[in-house]
Amino acid sequence: MTTSATETATSPTRAPQRRGPRQVRDVVFVDGARTPFGRAGSAGKGMYAETRADDLIVAVIRELLRRHPEIPPERIDEVAIAASTQIGDQGLTIGRVAGMLAGLPKSVPGYAIDRMCAGAMTAVTTIAGSIAFGAYDLAIAGGVEHMGRHPMGEGADPNPRFLADKLVSLDALSMGATAENLHDRFPHLTRERADRYALRSQEKFAKALAEGRIQPDLVPVATRSAEQGWGLASKDEPPRPNTTLDDLAALKTPFRPHGRITAGNAAGLNDGATACILASSDTAAELGLPVRMTLVGYGFAGVDPEVMGVGPIPSTERALASTGLSIDDIGLFELNEAFAVQVLAFLDHYGIDDDDPRVNPYGGAIALGHPLASSGVRLMTQLARQFAEHPEVRYGLTAMCVGFGQGASVIWENPHYTGGSTAANGADQ
Ligand SMILES: CC(C)(COP(=O)(O)OP(=O)(O)OC[C@H]1O[C@@H](n2cnc3c(N)ncnc32)[C@H](O)[C@@H]1OP(=O)(O)O)[C@@H](O)C(=O)NCCC(=O)NCCS
Repeated sequence: MTTSATETATSPTRAPQRRGPRQVRDVVFVDGARTPFGRAGSAGKGMYAETRADDLIVAVIRELLRRHPEIPPERIDEVAIAASTQIGDQGLTIGRVAGMLAGLPKSVPGYAIDRMCAGAMTAVTTIAGSIAFGAYDLAIAGGVEHMGRHPMGEGADPNPRFLADKLVSLDALSMGATAENLHDRFPHLTRERADRYALRSQEKFAKALAEGRIQPDLVPVATRSAEQGWGLASKDEPPRPNTTLDDLAALKTPFRPHGRITAGNAAGLNDGATACILASSDTAAELGLPVRMTLVGYGFAGVDPEVMGVGPIPSTERALASTGLSIDDIGLFELNEAFAVQVLAFLDHYGIDDDDPRVNPYGGAIALGHPLASSGVRLMTQLARQFAEHPEVRYGLTAMCVGFGQGASVIWENPHYTGGSTAANGADQ
Protein backbone atom coordinates (compact mmCIF):
# COMPACT_ATOMS: atom_id res chain seq x y z
CA MET A 1 0.00 0.00 0.00
CA THR A 2 1.40 3.46 -0.85
CA THR A 3 1.00 6.47 1.41
CA SER A 4 0.65 10.02 0.13
CA ALA A 5 2.80 12.89 1.32
CA THR A 6 -0.23 14.24 3.14
CA GLU A 7 -0.74 11.02 5.04
CA THR A 8 2.89 10.82 6.13
CA ALA A 9 2.92 14.43 7.38
CA THR A 10 3.45 14.62 11.12
CA SER A 11 0.61 17.11 11.63
CA PRO A 12 -2.94 17.45 10.36
CA THR A 13 -3.28 18.86 6.87
CA ARG A 14 -6.47 20.04 5.25
CA ALA A 15 -7.09 18.51 1.87
CA PRO A 16 -7.11 21.20 -0.84
CA GLN A 17 -10.62 21.81 -2.15
CA ARG A 18 -11.40 22.96 -5.65
CA ARG A 19 -13.81 25.89 -5.67
CA GLY A 20 -16.19 27.09 -8.33
CA PRO A 21 -15.58 30.19 -10.49
CA ARG A 22 -13.43 32.76 -8.69
CA GLN A 23 -15.19 35.56 -6.85
CA VAL A 24 -13.70 38.37 -4.80
CA ARG A 25 -14.69 37.70 -1.21
CA ASP A 26 -15.29 40.10 1.69
CA VAL A 27 -12.55 40.03 4.32
CA VAL A 28 -13.44 40.43 7.97
CA PHE A 29 -11.44 41.19 11.11
CA VAL A 30 -12.41 38.48 13.57
CA ASP A 31 -10.35 39.48 16.59
CA GLY A 32 -7.10 41.14 17.58
CA ALA A 33 -4.91 41.19 20.66
CA ARG A 34 -1.54 42.47 21.79
CA THR A 35 1.01 42.17 24.52
CA PRO A 36 1.27 45.03 26.94
CA PHE A 37 3.86 47.40 25.45
CA GLY A 38 7.16 47.82 27.27
CA ARG A 39 9.80 50.55 27.52
CA ALA A 40 12.82 49.48 25.53
CA GLY A 41 15.38 50.72 28.00
CA SER A 42 19.07 50.15 27.49
CA ALA A 43 21.21 48.21 29.97
CA GLY A 44 18.51 45.84 31.10
CA LYS A 45 15.78 48.42 31.74
CA GLY A 46 12.25 47.73 30.56
CA MET A 47 9.97 44.85 31.52
CA TYR A 48 10.88 42.79 28.43
CA ALA A 49 14.64 43.45 28.58
CA GLU A 50 15.37 39.73 29.01
CA THR A 51 12.31 38.35 27.23
CA ARG A 52 12.68 37.12 23.67
CA ALA A 53 10.89 38.89 20.82
CA ASP A 54 9.55 35.64 19.40
CA ASP A 55 8.05 34.76 22.77
CA LEU A 56 6.06 38.01 22.65
CA ILE A 57 4.38 37.24 19.33
CA VAL A 58 3.87 33.59 20.31
CA ALA A 59 1.97 34.70 23.42
CA VAL A 60 -0.43 36.74 21.27
CA ILE A 61 -1.08 33.98 18.72
CA ARG A 62 -1.72 31.46 21.51
CA GLU A 63 -4.16 33.84 23.15
CA LEU A 64 -6.08 34.35 19.91
CA LEU A 65 -6.38 30.56 19.54
CA ARG A 66 -7.47 30.25 23.16
CA ARG A 67 -10.13 32.90 22.66
CA HIS A 68 -11.44 31.10 19.57
CA PRO A 69 -11.74 27.38 20.21
CA GLU A 70 -14.25 27.32 17.33
CA ILE A 71 -11.28 27.60 14.92
CA PRO A 72 -9.74 24.21 14.09
CA PRO A 73 -6.00 25.10 14.05
CA GLU A 74 -5.47 23.24 10.78
CA ARG A 75 -7.97 25.62 9.15
CA ILE A 76 -5.47 28.47 9.58
CA ASP A 77 -4.04 28.96 6.10
CA GLU A 78 -1.15 31.30 6.86
CA VAL A 79 0.72 33.21 9.56
CA ALA A 80 2.17 36.54 8.34
CA ILE A 81 4.21 38.34 10.99
CA ALA A 82 6.09 41.59 10.50
CA ALA A 83 9.28 42.84 12.10
CA SER A 84 11.47 45.74 11.01
CA THR A 85 14.67 44.08 12.14
CA GLN A 86 14.61 40.48 10.98
CA ILE A 87 17.63 39.04 12.72
CA GLY A 88 18.21 37.07 15.91
CA ASP A 89 14.98 36.33 17.77
CA GLN A 90 13.04 38.33 15.14
CA GLY A 91 14.63 36.44 12.27
CA LEU A 92 14.38 32.93 10.87
CA THR A 93 11.11 33.78 9.07
CA ILE A 94 9.30 34.98 12.16
CA GLY A 95 5.79 34.01 10.95
CA ARG A 96 6.87 30.41 10.47
CA VAL A 97 8.70 30.00 13.76
CA ALA A 98 6.01 31.87 15.71
CA GLY A 99 3.27 29.61 14.32
CA MET A 100 5.13 26.47 15.28
CA LEU A 101 6.08 27.78 18.73
CA ALA A 102 2.44 28.76 19.29
CA GLY A 103 1.47 25.12 18.78
CA LEU A 104 -0.06 25.36 15.32
CA PRO A 105 0.20 22.19 13.26
CA LYS A 106 3.44 22.08 11.26
CA SER A 107 1.29 22.00 8.14
CA VAL A 108 0.34 25.67 8.73
CA PRO A 109 2.80 27.84 6.77
CA GLY A 110 4.13 31.24 7.78
CA TYR A 111 6.21 34.11 6.48
CA ALA A 112 7.94 37.30 7.57
CA ILE A 113 7.08 40.72 6.24
CA ASP A 114 8.60 44.20 6.50
CA ARG A 115 7.41 47.72 5.79
CA MET A 116 9.05 49.25 8.85
CA CYS A 117 6.35 50.86 11.03
CA ALA A 118 3.57 49.59 8.76
CA GLY A 119 4.70 45.97 8.96
CA ALA A 120 1.64 44.56 10.72
CA MET A 121 -0.62 46.79 8.61
CA THR A 122 0.99 45.34 5.49
CA ALA A 123 0.67 41.82 6.89
CA VAL A 124 -3.07 42.50 7.19
CA THR A 125 -3.50 43.92 3.69
CA THR A 126 -1.38 41.18 2.12
CA ILE A 127 -3.29 38.43 3.87
CA ALA A 128 -6.55 40.19 3.08
CA GLY A 129 -5.64 40.21 -0.61
CA SER A 130 -4.99 36.46 -0.46
CA ILE A 131 -8.35 35.86 1.23
CA ALA A 132 -10.24 38.08 -1.22
CA PHE A 133 -8.52 36.27 -4.10
CA GLY A 134 -9.66 32.93 -2.72
CA ALA A 135 -6.26 31.45 -1.90
CA TYR A 136 -6.95 31.48 1.86
CA ASP A 137 -10.04 31.26 4.06
CA LEU A 138 -8.62 32.21 7.44
CA ALA A 139 -5.21 33.49 8.52
CA ILE A 140 -3.25 35.26 11.22
CA ALA A 141 -1.48 38.60 10.64
CA GLY A 142 0.54 40.65 13.08
CA GLY A 143 3.86 42.12 14.03
CA VAL A 144 6.53 42.24 16.68
CA GLU A 145 9.29 44.66 17.53
CA HIS A 146 11.66 44.42 20.44
CA MET A 147 13.44 47.76 20.13
CA GLY A 148 15.44 46.98 23.25
CA ARG A 149 17.01 43.87 21.76
CA HIS A 150 16.99 45.33 18.24
CA PRO A 151 17.57 49.10 18.23
CA MET A 152 16.16 50.98 15.24
CA GLY A 153 18.36 50.48 12.19
CA GLU A 154 20.32 47.59 13.69
CA GLY A 155 22.42 45.93 11.00
CA ALA A 156 21.21 48.35 8.31
CA ASP A 157 23.68 49.14 5.55
CA PRO A 158 22.16 51.92 3.41
CA ASN A 159 23.65 52.09 -0.05
CA PRO A 160 26.14 55.01 -0.12
CA ARG A 161 24.50 56.17 -3.36
CA PHE A 162 21.55 57.46 -1.34
CA LEU A 163 23.73 60.27 -0.03
CA ALA A 164 26.39 60.43 -2.74
CA ASP A 165 23.78 60.86 -5.49
CA LYS A 166 21.66 63.09 -3.24
CA LEU A 167 18.70 60.71 -3.51
CA VAL A 168 17.94 61.65 0.10
CA SER A 169 19.58 63.87 2.70
CA LEU A 170 21.04 62.50 5.93
CA ASP A 171 17.81 63.53 7.73
CA ALA A 172 15.94 60.74 5.95
CA LEU A 173 17.63 58.19 8.18
CA SER A 174 16.65 59.80 11.49
CA MET A 175 12.93 59.71 12.16
CA GLY A 176 13.20 62.48 14.75
CA ALA A 177 14.98 64.69 12.21
CA THR A 178 12.20 64.08 9.68
CA ALA A 179 9.71 65.23 12.30
CA GLU A 180 11.73 68.40 12.91
CA ASN A 181 11.54 68.96 9.14
CA LEU A 182 7.75 68.78 9.35
CA HIS A 183 7.73 71.55 11.94
CA ASP A 184 9.84 73.59 9.50
CA ARG A 185 7.47 72.90 6.64
CA PHE A 186 4.35 73.73 8.67
CA PRO A 187 5.46 76.52 11.04
CA HIS A 188 1.90 76.98 12.34
CA LEU A 189 2.22 73.47 13.84
CA THR A 190 4.19 74.79 16.78
CA ARG A 191 5.88 72.88 19.58
CA GLU A 192 3.20 74.17 21.91
CA ARG A 193 0.49 72.65 19.71
CA ALA A 194 2.44 69.39 19.55
CA ASP A 195 2.85 69.34 23.34
CA ARG A 196 -0.87 70.00 23.84
CA TYR A 197 -1.68 67.14 21.50
CA ALA A 198 0.78 64.89 23.40
CA LEU A 199 -0.77 65.81 26.74
CA ARG A 200 -4.23 64.91 25.42
CA SER A 201 -2.90 61.56 24.22
CA GLN A 202 -1.75 60.81 27.77
CA GLU A 203 -5.07 62.00 29.23
CA LYS A 204 -7.22 60.04 26.78
CA PHE A 205 -5.21 56.89 27.37
CA ALA A 206 -5.49 57.26 31.16
CA LYS A 207 -9.27 57.74 30.82
CA ALA A 208 -9.69 54.74 28.52
CA LEU A 209 -7.63 52.61 30.90
CA ALA A 210 -9.69 53.73 33.90
CA GLU A 211 -12.87 52.90 31.97
CA GLY A 212 -11.61 49.37 31.24
CA ARG A 213 -11.31 49.83 27.47
CA ILE A 214 -7.64 48.86 27.16
CA GLN A 215 -7.21 45.71 29.25
CA PRO A 216 -9.51 43.39 27.22
CA ASP A 217 -7.13 43.52 24.25
CA LEU A 218 -4.03 42.72 26.32
CA VAL A 219 -2.39 39.31 26.63
CA PRO A 220 -0.45 38.95 29.90
CA VAL A 221 3.11 37.83 29.18
CA ALA A 222 5.53 35.96 31.43
CA THR A 223 8.73 38.00 31.65
CA ARG A 224 12.16 36.78 32.50
CA SER A 225 14.78 38.52 34.59
CA ALA A 226 18.03 36.91 35.72
CA GLU A 227 18.03 39.09 38.83
CA GLN A 228 14.34 39.19 39.75
CA GLY A 229 13.13 35.84 38.40
CA TRP A 230 9.89 35.41 36.50
CA GLY A 231 7.34 38.19 36.33
CA LEU A 232 4.05 38.91 34.58
CA ALA A 233 3.58 41.88 32.27
CA SER A 234 -0.09 42.76 32.43
CA LYS A 235 -0.17 46.49 31.68
CA ASP A 236 1.56 48.96 29.39
CA GLU A 237 4.78 50.40 30.72
CA PRO A 238 5.20 53.63 28.64
CA PRO A 239 2.21 55.79 29.72
CA ARG A 240 2.98 58.82 31.89
CA PRO A 241 -0.47 59.76 33.20
CA ASN A 242 0.82 62.58 35.41
CA THR A 243 2.31 64.52 32.50
CA THR A 244 1.73 68.28 32.55
CA LEU A 245 2.22 70.92 29.86
CA ASP A 246 5.00 72.45 31.97
CA ASP A 247 6.81 69.09 32.11
CA LEU A 248 6.54 68.78 28.34
CA ALA A 249 7.74 72.33 27.73
CA ALA A 250 10.85 71.65 29.82
CA LEU A 251 12.01 68.58 27.86
CA LYS A 252 15.14 68.61 25.72
CA THR A 253 15.01 68.43 21.93
CA PRO A 254 17.38 65.55 21.14
CA PHE A 255 17.22 65.78 17.36
CA ARG A 256 18.15 69.45 16.95
CA PRO A 257 19.35 72.25 19.24
CA HIS A 258 16.31 74.45 19.98
CA GLY A 259 14.17 71.99 18.04
CA ARG A 260 10.60 70.99 18.76
CA ILE A 261 10.60 67.20 18.98
CA THR A 262 10.99 65.83 22.52
CA ALA A 263 10.59 62.53 24.33
CA GLY A 264 7.18 63.88 25.39
CA ASN A 265 5.66 64.65 21.98
CA ALA A 266 7.12 61.61 20.19
CA ALA A 267 6.37 57.92 20.55
CA GLY A 268 9.07 56.22 22.56
CA LEU A 269 11.29 53.21 21.94
CA ASN A 270 9.21 50.18 22.82
CA ASP A 271 8.82 46.41 22.83
CA GLY A 272 5.60 44.60 21.95
CA ALA A 273 3.67 42.30 19.65
CA THR A 274 0.20 42.25 18.07
CA ALA A 275 -1.79 39.81 15.99
CA CYS A 276 -5.24 39.40 14.53
CA ILE A 277 -7.39 36.79 12.86
CA LEU A 278 -8.69 37.61 9.39
CA ALA A 279 -11.19 35.50 7.48
CA SER A 280 -13.43 35.56 4.46
CA SER A 281 -16.94 36.52 5.50
CA ASP A 282 -18.28 33.11 4.41
CA THR A 283 -15.65 31.28 6.49
CA ALA A 284 -16.50 33.44 9.49
CA ALA A 285 -20.17 32.53 9.04
CA GLU A 286 -19.36 28.83 8.58
CA LEU A 287 -17.30 28.67 11.78
CA GLY A 288 -19.54 31.01 13.78
CA LEU A 289 -16.77 33.57 14.24
CA PRO A 290 -17.45 37.13 15.35
CA VAL A 291 -17.11 39.86 12.75
CA ARG A 292 -15.70 42.95 14.40
CA MET A 293 -14.83 44.88 11.24
CA THR A 294 -15.13 44.45 7.49
CA LEU A 295 -12.30 45.57 5.25
CA VAL A 296 -13.35 48.28 2.80
CA GLY A 297 -10.04 49.17 1.16
CA TYR A 298 -6.49 50.30 1.66
CA GLY A 299 -3.74 52.41 0.16
CA PHE A 300 0.00 52.88 0.47
CA ALA A 301 1.99 55.83 -0.86
CA GLY A 302 5.54 57.09 -1.02
CA VAL A 303 6.65 60.62 -0.05
CA ASP A 304 10.00 62.37 0.36
CA PRO A 305 11.80 60.41 3.08
CA GLU A 306 12.92 63.69 4.73
CA VAL A 307 9.26 64.40 5.61
CA MET A 308 8.06 60.83 6.04
CA GLY A 309 5.41 61.97 8.56
CA VAL A 310 3.14 63.32 5.81
CA GLY A 311 2.88 59.81 4.33
CA PRO A 312 -0.62 59.04 5.69
CA ILE A 313 -2.10 61.92 3.66
CA PRO A 314 -1.47 60.49 0.16
CA SER A 315 -2.03 56.92 1.36
CA THR A 316 -5.42 57.96 2.75
CA GLU A 317 -6.19 59.72 -0.53
CA ARG A 318 -5.48 56.46 -2.34
CA ALA A 319 -7.57 54.41 0.05
CA LEU A 320 -10.48 56.87 -0.23
CA ALA A 321 -10.24 57.01 -4.03
CA SER A 322 -10.24 53.24 -4.38
CA THR A 323 -13.31 52.89 -2.16
CA GLY A 324 -15.31 55.85 -3.44
CA LEU A 325 -15.48 57.33 0.06
CA SER A 326 -14.57 60.83 1.20
CA ILE A 327 -12.87 61.89 4.41
CA ASP A 328 -16.29 63.08 5.64
CA ASP A 329 -17.48 59.47 5.62
CA ILE A 330 -14.90 58.52 8.25
CA GLY A 331 -16.43 58.53 11.73
CA LEU A 332 -13.45 57.24 13.71
CA PHE A 333 -9.73 57.70 13.15
CA GLU A 334 -7.01 55.51 14.65
CA LEU A 335 -3.84 57.35 13.67
CA ASN A 336 -0.46 56.14 14.78
CA GLU A 337 1.25 58.87 16.78
CA ALA A 338 4.89 58.46 15.76
CA PHE A 339 5.20 62.19 16.43
CA ALA A 340 2.53 64.72 17.43
CA VAL A 341 3.48 67.02 14.54
CA GLN A 342 2.91 64.29 12.02
CA VAL A 343 -0.64 63.62 13.27
CA LEU A 344 -1.29 67.36 13.35
CA ALA A 345 -0.14 67.66 9.72
CA PHE A 346 -2.71 65.01 8.76
CA LEU A 347 -5.52 66.65 10.74
CA ASP A 348 -4.60 70.10 9.43
CA HIS A 349 -4.67 68.81 5.85
CA TYR A 350 -8.22 67.55 6.27
CA GLY A 351 -9.43 70.50 8.36
CA ILE A 352 -9.98 68.34 11.44
CA ASP A 353 -9.50 69.95 14.86
CA ASP A 354 -6.47 68.94 16.94
CA ASP A 355 -8.82 67.66 19.62
CA ASP A 356 -11.58 66.20 17.44
CA PRO A 357 -13.22 63.42 19.49
CA ARG A 358 -13.28 61.08 16.49
CA VAL A 359 -9.48 60.93 16.55
CA ASN A 360 -7.68 58.39 18.74
CA PRO A 361 -10.39 58.25 21.42
CA TYR A 362 -8.20 56.01 23.61
CA GLY A 363 -5.08 58.12 23.15
CA GLY A 364 -2.23 56.88 21.01
CA ALA A 365 1.37 55.85 20.60
CA ILE A 366 2.71 58.97 22.33
CA ALA A 367 1.16 57.59 25.52
CA LEU A 368 1.25 53.84 25.07
CA GLY A 369 4.19 53.29 22.76
CA HIS A 370 5.07 52.31 19.22
CA PRO A 371 6.90 49.00 18.83
CA LEU A 372 7.40 49.72 15.13
CA ALA A 373 6.19 46.76 13.05
CA SER A 374 3.53 45.75 15.56
CA SER A 375 1.56 49.00 15.77
CA GLY A 376 -0.74 48.63 12.76
CA VAL A 377 -2.75 45.83 14.33
CA ARG A 378 -2.89 47.73 17.63
CA LEU A 379 -4.71 50.51 15.75
CA MET A 380 -7.11 48.00 14.20
CA THR A 381 -7.85 46.19 17.44
CA GLN A 382 -8.73 49.48 19.09
CA LEU A 383 -10.87 50.60 16.16
CA ALA A 384 -12.77 47.32 16.39
CA ARG A 385 -13.56 48.02 20.05
CA GLN A 386 -14.64 51.57 19.23
CA PHE A 387 -16.91 50.35 16.42
CA ALA A 388 -18.83 48.28 18.97
CA GLU A 389 -19.18 51.38 21.17
CA HIS A 390 -20.33 53.54 18.25
CA PRO A 391 -23.03 51.88 16.15
CA GLU A 392 -23.76 55.32 14.65
CA VAL A 393 -20.36 55.23 12.93
CA ARG A 394 -20.16 53.41 9.63
CA TYR A 395 -16.51 53.78 8.54
CA GLY A 396 -13.21 54.06 10.36
CA LEU A 397 -9.65 54.68 9.25
CA THR A 398 -6.40 53.22 10.55
CA ALA A 399 -3.35 55.06 9.23
CA MET A 400 0.32 55.53 9.91
CA CYS A 401 3.52 57.04 8.60
CA VAL A 402 6.41 54.81 7.66
CA GLY A 403 10.17 55.31 7.87
CA PHE A 404 11.98 56.17 4.65
CA GLY A 405 9.00 58.02 3.31
CA GLN A 406 5.75 56.08 3.11
CA GLY A 407 2.21 56.20 4.37
CA ALA A 408 -0.25 53.37 5.01
CA SER A 409 -4.05 53.60 5.35
CA VAL A 410 -6.76 50.99 5.80
CA ILE A 411 -10.49 51.74 5.82
CA TRP A 412 -12.90 49.50 7.73
CA GLU A 413 -16.69 49.24 7.94
CA ASN A 414 -18.52 48.82 11.22
CA PRO A 415 -20.72 45.68 11.29
CA HIS A 416 -22.63 47.20 14.23
CA TYR A 417 -23.64 50.22 12.16
CA THR A 418 -27.29 50.99 12.70
CA GLY A 419 -27.61 53.85 10.23
CA GLY A 420 -27.42 56.66 12.81
CA SER A 421 -26.11 60.11 11.95
CA THR A 422 -25.18 60.29 8.29
CA ALA A 423 -23.75 63.81 8.12
CA ALA A 424 -20.28 62.78 9.23
CA ASN A 425 -21.05 59.29 10.46
CA GLY A 426 -19.31 60.72 13.50
CA ALA A 427 -18.66 59.55 17.00
CA ASP A 428 -20.32 61.47 19.82
CA GLN A 429 -19.24 65.07 19.52
C1 LIG B 1 12.70 60.99 21.62
C2 LIG B 1 13.62 59.87 22.06
C3 LIG B 1 15.01 60.07 21.44
C4 LIG B 1 13.71 59.93 23.58
O1 LIG B 1 14.44 58.84 24.00
P1 LIG B 1 14.93 58.72 25.51
O2 LIG B 1 15.81 59.90 25.85
O3 LIG B 1 15.47 57.36 25.71
O4 LIG B 1 13.53 58.87 26.27
P2 LIG B 1 13.19 58.81 27.78
O5 LIG B 1 11.95 58.04 27.95
O6 LIG B 1 14.39 58.42 28.59
O7 LIG B 1 12.82 60.31 28.09
C5 LIG B 1 13.80 61.35 28.16
C6 LIG B 1 13.46 62.24 29.34
O8 LIG B 1 12.20 62.84 29.10
C7 LIG B 1 11.34 62.57 30.19
N1 LIG B 1 9.97 62.42 29.68
C8 LIG B 1 9.58 61.69 28.61
N2 LIG B 1 8.25 61.80 28.45
C9 LIG B 1 7.82 62.61 29.42
C10 LIG B 1 6.54 63.09 29.77
N3 LIG B 1 5.44 62.78 29.07
N4 LIG B 1 6.44 63.91 30.82
C11 LIG B 1 7.53 64.25 31.53
N5 LIG B 1 8.78 63.82 31.24
C12 LIG B 1 8.90 63.00 30.19
C13 LIG B 1 11.88 61.30 30.79
O9 LIG B 1 11.50 61.18 32.14
C14 LIG B 1 13.34 61.47 30.64
O10 LIG B 1 13.81 62.32 31.68
P3 LIG B 1 15.26 62.13 32.32
O11 LIG B 1 16.22 62.37 31.19
O12 LIG B 1 15.29 63.16 33.37
O13 LIG B 1 15.31 60.73 32.80
C15 LIG B 1 13.07 58.47 21.63
O14 LIG B 1 11.92 58.19 22.35
C16 LIG B 1 12.78 58.40 20.15
O15 LIG B 1 13.69 58.29 19.33
N6 LIG B 1 11.48 58.42 19.77
C17 LIG B 1 11.08 58.30 18.39
C18 LIG B 1 11.00 56.85 18.00
C19 LIG B 1 10.85 56.71 16.51
O16 LIG B 1 11.54 57.34 15.74
N7 LIG B 1 9.96 55.83 16.09
C20 LIG B 1 9.71 55.61 14.71
C21 LIG B 1 8.77 56.62 14.22
S1 LIG B 1 8.66 56.60 12.48
